[in-house]
Amino acid sequence: MGGKKSRKDAGGGKDTKKFRTVDELWTHMDLVSKGDPYNEECGWYGQSAVYWSQVPATVDGVLTGNTHGGDMGKWHEADIEESRQFIESIRDGGRGKCIDCGAGMGRVTRDLLCPLYSRCDVLESQSHMLEQAERYLADQPSAGDFILGRLESVPLPPRTYDLVFLELAAMYLTDADLVTFLKQAKVSLTKKGFIFLKENCAKSDKYDIDPEDNGLLRTEGQFAALFQAAGLTMVREAEQQKWPHDYATLKMYALR
Ligand SMILES: C[S@@+](CC[C@H](N)C(=O)[O-])C[C@H]1O[C@@H](n2cnc3c(N)ncnc32)[C@H](O)[C@@H]1O
Repeated sequence: MGGKKSRKDAGGGKDTKKFRTVDELWTHMDLVSKGDPYNEECGWYGQSAVYWSQVPATVDGVLTGNTHGGDMGKWHEADIEESRQFIESIRDGGRGKCIDCGAGMGRVTRDLLCPLYSRCDVLESQSHMLEQAERYLADQPSAGDFILGRLESVPLPPRTYDLVFLELAAMYLTDADLVTFLKQAKVSLTKKGFIFLKENCAKSDKYDIDPEDNGLLRTEGQFAALFQAAGLTMVREAEQQKWPHDYATLKMYALR
């Protein structure tokens, strides 16, 4: 899902009980998929891709992450506003090229990034989302390239972006792939660039898995360890204030 409801059984649910640590989860997924993460029946990425292929390419769809409707779209403006304040608080950030990674149908690209940056590339793995993003951004002078690709395998050009933007998408990457992506994102930054990562975080110190879409609800400690493994420094962090109380904490990180 997009925003994640806090589950009472977070950290003790069916899946997390099976795996004491996230490493055990990755080992298990690797075994059942026989090393093919794109297996649609049992691979970490395959299962998630099947799920996202069925989600409507709408603001409600990407925020609720639901194949049968939802109303998380009403939080879109609050999400955009607090992200804007966060980005503007990084005083030495450039305003040239940016890339929206795992962009869905382009709601953030259109309402947050296009007004702030001179050129905005869009990267998304689902073709129906990317096609809708092209239509949605058709009147935006700063819309750049529309790239059909996956975060774990797409190459990012070095020293190019003033902002690498990643919202509600890091949860779909394995730990190893998230570290690789972040390392690459760091290399793709200009001198004034930074990575903006906005993601659901567990309210307790226990991680959780949403078996519907294979979204991993990481703890803040897990994120900190992954940032460190990617050689990144946290420049700033903040919590989304206007957000439904029964949802997971939505955190924003600026990284370099
Ligand atoms: C919850 S939606 C968020 C979309 C957008 N970032 C937003 O905030 O509106 C997650 C998006 O990530 C995409 N996605 C999931 N796994 C991905 C991957 N491995 N590579 C690229 N995109 C991915 C999904 O197709 C979906 O469009």
